[in-house]
Amino acid sequence: MVDVHDFLGLLHPAIAVFFVFPLIGMVVNYAWQTRQRRLQAVDGGKSKIPPGVGSEHLKLGRWLCASVVGLSLLGLAYAIFSKMQKQGAFSQAPGRVTFVVLMFVATIASLVLLYQVKPNQRIWRGVFATLTGMGLVVLGCQPEVFRRGFEWYVSHYYYGIAASLLIIFSQAIVPDIYQDRANRWRTVHIVLNCVALLLFIGQGFTGTRDLLEIPLGWQEPYIQQLYEKQCMKQPCKVESTSPQSFLPTLPNSHTLL
Ligand code: HEM
Ligand code: HEM
Repeated sequence: MVDVHDFLGLLHPAIAVFFVFPLIGMVVNYAWQTRQRRLQAVDGGKSKIPPGVGSEHLKLGRWLCASVVGLSLLGLAYAIFSKMQKQGAFSQAPGRVTFVVLMFVATIASLVLLYQVKPNQRIWRGVFATLTGMGLVVLGCQPEVFRRGFEWYVSHYYYGIAASLLIIFSQAIVPDIYQDRANRWRTVHIVLNCVALLLFIGQGFTGTRDLLEIPLGWQEPYIQQLYEKQCMKQPCKVESTSPQSFLPTLPNSHTLL
């Protein structure tokens, strides 16, 4: 049974699957065509690829940047506020709750301002890109976020923040890509976004693994016992803590005992 809390937890993965990943596919498709068209033009040949692919790539790229940052913020918001609610932080530590809320507001405001900056305002592009990235990192450092530090090399958190920072950087350097005739910024963009693409693929794997590990609300006390009693290493028994509320929700009255 999926309750409201479980449903809120599914919002982030669902949006990733039905919106962000298809967008990544479209952005990469246009990126490939943009590159092919430019190389064919350099060779002096006439390309069959329409001239608008570069601007289509940019248009969807701008959507992608906002979507990836938004998706990371949603993942972080769920992790932080759901745990804060369980631990009673809203009444016990209102100062910290206010700080976290203000950090979310400041990060979103920085992203919006990054989109408003004019192409010739280079410093402001740098400032708002840095502030957006810093906002994500500060929120990610909150104790409620599960960062998987013991296996950082397969951590959904670290991959997600790294991919978000790279994509924010892409948004910040757009005018430089167009202005640099030596194509150095273009090359920087390609290299960094190929890394981002690998990280997105990693997000597909690590995110689905995390979904596999996170129990539904009613299962949580039992799964907790599996870890506490180290059931992966030794035989153990999981006990029902409140049989009255637990048993009726199980299909066909199966029990874990
Ligand atoms: C998965 C993410 C991305 C990948 C793999 C990617 C890759 C590429 C590639 C291969 C090119 C063609 C370079 C060439 O001409 O040789 C390109 C161009 C470009 N990209 Fe991206 N990119 C990504 C995301 C973004 C984002 C998020 C933005 C901006 C918000 C962006 C902005 C641009 C711009 C402005 C160009 C130049 C287009 C033109 O020549 O008209 N890209 N990108
Ligand atoms: C663009 C791709 C994605 C990005 C940038 C991203 C980013 C994030 C971030 C920053 C968090 C919060 C930190 C954390 O709890 O690990 C998070 C949480 C989470 N994400 Fe993603 N994510 C992406 C795709 C996915 C996908 C495809 C799935 C699954 C289908 C997924 C499932 C989850 C789950 C289950 C959590 C909660 C993990 C927990 O509470 O430990 N994510 N994501």
